[in-house]
Amino acid sequence: MLKAVEQCMLTWIKELQNDEIYELFTHLPHGKRLRAKLVLKIAGETQQSIKLAAVIELIHAASLLHDDVIDEALTRRGVTSINASDGSKIAVMMGDVLYSKAFTELVAFDDKIAQSVAASVTTLSIGEYLDVKMGESFNNNEDAYLDMIYKKTASLIEVTAYAAAFLVGKDEHDYKLYGKNLGLAFQIIDDILDIVSDEKTLGKPALNDYKEGKTTLPYMYLHTSLNLEDKNRLEKAHLQILEPLDSLWIKTKMKEHKSVERSYQLARNLSDEAITIMTKHNEPELVGILEDMMSREF
Ligand code: FPP
Ligand code: MG
Repeated sequence: MLKAVEQCMLTWIKELQNDEIYELFTHLPHGKRLRAKLVLKIAGETQQSIKLAAVIELIHAASLLHDDVIDEALTRRGVTSINASDGSKIAVMMGDVLYSKAFTELVAFDDKIAQSVAASVTTLSIGEYLDVKMGESFNNNEDAYLDMIYKKTASLIEVTAYAAAFLVGKDEHDYKLYGKNLGLAFQIIDDILDIVSDEKTLGKPALNDYKEGKTTLPYMYLHTSLNLEDKNRLEKAHLQILEPLDSLWIKTKMKEHKSVERSYQLARNLSDEAITIMTKHNEPELVGILEDMMSREF
């Protein structure tokens, strides 16, 4: 059923009548299509739901193109990123094309859907802005971190569930909460995988977040558990290319203080709350999406 969403996106990009852009688009590596899956599982497969899924996937793809420029990422999903292969200018413009085409299609939807999705993209952009700003120095404010990941990641997943529910007259409030918790848990797991996984599995360098300036939850929890001397050592490693010895030290200390387990527990709590809601609505497939996400390795 995701095939129909892929086809819809290809048709839209073909309409732009630029062979190079079409070619680039067909070569973009795509991930798990989590957002499209959500739409189709919540709203079923109709012309409207397929278009909604395609709009959201285009916005997501555009945001990743821009994010890779901002993060100076060389790879995305195991292959060379567009900014690395074709340069940042092409990556930014390709992002703009996908993003504006998505909006052209979005305005044909019911006002409530168009307005909520558009607003979430503003929130998403503010989230990325906060991510950049917070990366400039060591951050140990958990609330600021959670606010940032809500905006950067969860807001688009939240609106995906909300808009799909709205499309078919399901309980918007509950589906929205499910999407929000799924999004938050997703980002926390992403941050954990950066620490516990390896480059081959991740499709991007491991232990990369801290070097990029991202003080994710496990680093924050570790910091609160350390003595003053070790706190200083951890802060000093922020934004640095880590020597193998420093990487090992961080991982050992995280094990000792259960920093990853504590982070996982927060994701688990969010996920459990969402599972309870979807069990109430008799949505085993949506529960399945959460379970798969919680146990994923990349
Ligand atoms: C990935 O974060 C980035 C996001 C989830 C959001 C990016 C949003 C923007 C660039 C603003 C919106 C722009 C447009 C054109 C809609 P990450 O760097 O933590 O994850 P990663 O490891 O997958 O790169
Ligand atoms: Mg990134």
